[in-house]
Amino acid sequence: MSSKAREEIPILKKYIYLNNASAGPLPSRVVTSVVKFAEEWASEGEPWEEGIRAIYDCKRLFSQLTGARPEEVSAFPGVSYGIALVLSSLRLKPGSNVVVSSMNFPTSIAIARSMARRGLVKEVRVVEDRGGFTDLRDYEKFIDDNTAVVLVDYVGWLSGYVEDLREVSRIAHEHGAILVSDAFHAVGVLPVDVRALGVDVLVTGSYKWLMSLHGAALAYVREEVLESLNPPYAGWMALEDSIPRRILRGEPEFLRPIDPLRTELAGDGGKLEWGTLPLVAFVALRRALEFILEYRAPDLFETHTRKLAERIIEGLESLGYELYTARGRHAAIVSFKHRSPIQLAEHLSRAGVVVSGRPGLVRVSPHFYNTHEDVDNFLETLRRVDRELRG
Ligand SMILES: Cc1ncc(COP(=O)(O)O)c(C=O)c1O
Repeated sequence: MSSKAREEIPILKKYIYLNNASAGPLPSRVVTSVVKFAEEWASEGEPWEEGIRAIYDCKRLFSQLTGARPEEVSAFPGVSYGIALVLSSLRLKPGSNVVVSSMNFPTSIAIARSMARRGLVKEVRVVEDRGGFTDLRDYEKFIDDNTAVVLVDYVGWLSGYVEDLREVSRIAHEHGAILVSDAFHAVGVLPVDVRALGVDVLVTGSYKWLMSLHGAALAYVREEVLESLNPPYAGWMALEDSIPRRILRGEPEFLRPIDPLRTELAGDGGKLEWGTLPLVAFVALRRALEFILEYRAPDLFETHTRKLAERIIEGLESLGYELYTARGRHAAIVSFKHRSPIQLAEHLSRAGVVVSGRPGLVRVSPHFYNTHEDVDNFLETLRRVDRELRG
């Protein structure tokens, strides 16, 4: 793996970092962009235009990564905000249901259930996982002509399971439902092509595999779906004639009066953006996306990152651990069962290896910048630390 990328990631001087599924490490160019934004504000005044441009640059760069068109991308302060806004903007028929997977991160299930609580949908149907993976036949069983939305994470946050979105979207579309996917554990590490996957909405956040700060998320919303959305609220940023849109069109911001009664919604992803976003988070994300794109090779996951995950799996098996991750169907997350995962993760961290402890599981998540040596060091440290822990 490119040592140039590693040189830009300060934490790697201190730790073997295998915790990208919790939060990615910050490259130094990301840190510099944040400091510069704050310093400019302190010395020259608010860098407003710069922040607004950063949002649009993020949409453009995200589109390069995912095959979306920038007009189909909406910006949010977080993944949960994005999913909630898209779902609350749907025009739902009475008696509709939502289908979710039990392997989803809790946020989308909570959002779907809140829709049921408010009477917006009749029912939330849960496809139960079969121990770290799902069976497509269960989707066939649960999705019917009353299904409005199927909500499925692309990569399982605990298991690393890669859902067959293409097939799930086929089933959803056969019944006239849309597929909304939280791809937080995919964008930045797996190759993602929104058209090939057949998703209608695909959301991701800044602070894991995209290696940036909290406070930014991006969602691809397929054009026809975007047109059909009816947002419950719209602030000044969601309007066709908003100040940020004037900036992007190269118009002087305040030359024309702002007509407070012209509330026509933007024709692109901007229609879901209410007000000022955390601009500094998008300033940071722009640099992080550039960093990822600089080192991205279309086959990098297949030729490198997947091999790291497989090496972890083989090492764990030879040390006698029971895997939670389904072999051969995973992205860059490998989880194994342990009776004291939190304690083990703490001990590993003290020994210089960062992974995450979750209830009953230890999760190891390598990224493109990790090396085979990182994996071997992790396995060796695990063997030693776990033996000490057992006494
Ligand atoms: C798959 C997934 N979705 C959503 C979230 C939460 O995102 P946010 O805090 O931006 O709403 C997480 C956090 O770990 C996650 O793993």
